[in-house]
Amino acid sequence: MLKLKYLGGRKLSVKELICNTSKSYKVLIEKDILNYSGVHIKNFSNAKKVLVVTDDNVAGLYAARVVSHLKKHFHEVYLFVLKSGEESKSLDIAPKLYNYLADKFFDRQDLIISFGGGVVGDIAGFIASTYKRGIDFIQIPTSLLAQVDASIGGKNGINLEHGKNLIGTFYQPKLVLIDPILLNTLPKSDFNDGMAEIIKCAMIKSDKLFEKIVGFKTSDELEEIIYESIDIKRKIVEADEFESCERKLLNFGHTIGHSIEKIYEYKKYSHGKAVSIGMATIVRAGEFLNLTEPGCYNKLICVLKKFDLPYEFTCPIKDVLENCLNDKKAYLDYIDLVLIHSIGRGFIKKILKSKLKEYIRRDIL
Ligand SMILES: NC(=O)c1ccc[n+]([C@@H]2O[C@H](COP(=O)([O-])OP(=O)(O)OC[C@H]3O[C@@H](n4cnc5c(N)ncnc54)[C@H](O)[C@@H]3O)[C@@H](O)[C@H]2O)c1
Ligand SMILES: [Zn+2]
Repeated sequence: MLKLKYLGGRKLSVKELICNTSKSYKVLIEKDILNYSGVHIKNFSNAKKVLVVTDDNVAGLYAARVVSHLKKHFHEVYLFVLKSGEESKSLDIAPKLYNYLADKFFDRQDLIISFGGGVVGDIAGFIASTYKRGIDFIQIPTSLLAQVDASIGGKNGINLEHGKNLIGTFYQPKLVLIDPILLNTLPKSDFNDGMAEIIKCAMIKSDKLFEKIVGFKTSDELEEIIYESIDIKRKIVEADEFESCERKLLNFGHTIGHSIEKIYEYKKYSHGKAVSIGMATIVRAGEFLNLTEPGCYNKLICVLKKFDLPYEFTCPIKDVLENCLNDKKAYLDYIDLVLIHSIGRGFIKKILKSKLKEYIRRDIL
């Protein structure tokens, strides 16, 4: 919903979504909203103390600005800067954050703000959900992937040596502020990773969004695309917050994608790129098996190419298969796969593990 609001005499055209989960919260999307973050956050929090968790890349670009806006509205504002990268989502970092909060006497009505990509959001969200059994939490996602995916839906996660996101909780934020202008400084490859998740949402739920991505030319169109992508995730999460059914649709491309990430030890392919290969693989198989309308594979790979996203894997099929079967979402003799009938119409298909190979094969189309 587009709302015109007045804030300090300034007319704002804030796009607003309400996520009605166990705890409902607003997602506000607007170019330049970062410069008004203090006012918005004050409307949702009576905190005396605020901890902004960020990483060193984002801090170098924006931390001073965020802190100065927050200081206008909150008594004590602290900044905790993590090293950028997946390694920060570790159990070693958690005590540093807990102790920092305790040293500064943070209480449950105080606030943690995550200000960064999905890594920062995941660790900050986990800390917020566990410190004193839950402290208020607000997200200001700065990467495209975090804006459309990681900041929505209330999942957080920490990695173990045994695998990614093996520890985590469901914990909804009080507010999410999305500023598309921040994406101007995001490296192109990270931008494309976020696009992969937007393409995923379009593939399972909206041919209209898919066409917008096909036609995407300038950053002016981003706000609308981000809004629609979040709206898709919002509806899915509302229907199934704790992932018993509908939310599994969001795993489109992910079973094969996770397997590919793991085979290359998370070095060769980022998550978005591995998911792109996963989506292309399953759509191609879907067409071959007459489960997916012909032509979808070609349309998908055109759009993946547009964002320099890969669509083929080169490693042995048996390795992909083996890792898919060890996926945490696989149970007993069956595995849930997400396929599409056509673009915008995803569905979940429970298949026998022994049949999985047919969905990964390359010698088709
Ligand atoms: N909780 C969830 O529901 C969920 C969903 C999807 C992904 N994730 C998690 O999110 C993480 C991936 O997120 P990501 O892709 O944002 O990775 P990331 O947090 O590592 O950010 C990617 C890179 O972009 C930099 N960056 C972020 N914003 C920037 C900006 N505005 N300008 C310049 N640089 C910027 C970061 O410093 C980093 O180097 C993974 O750990 C994944 O498991 C969580
Ligand atoms: Zn993903």
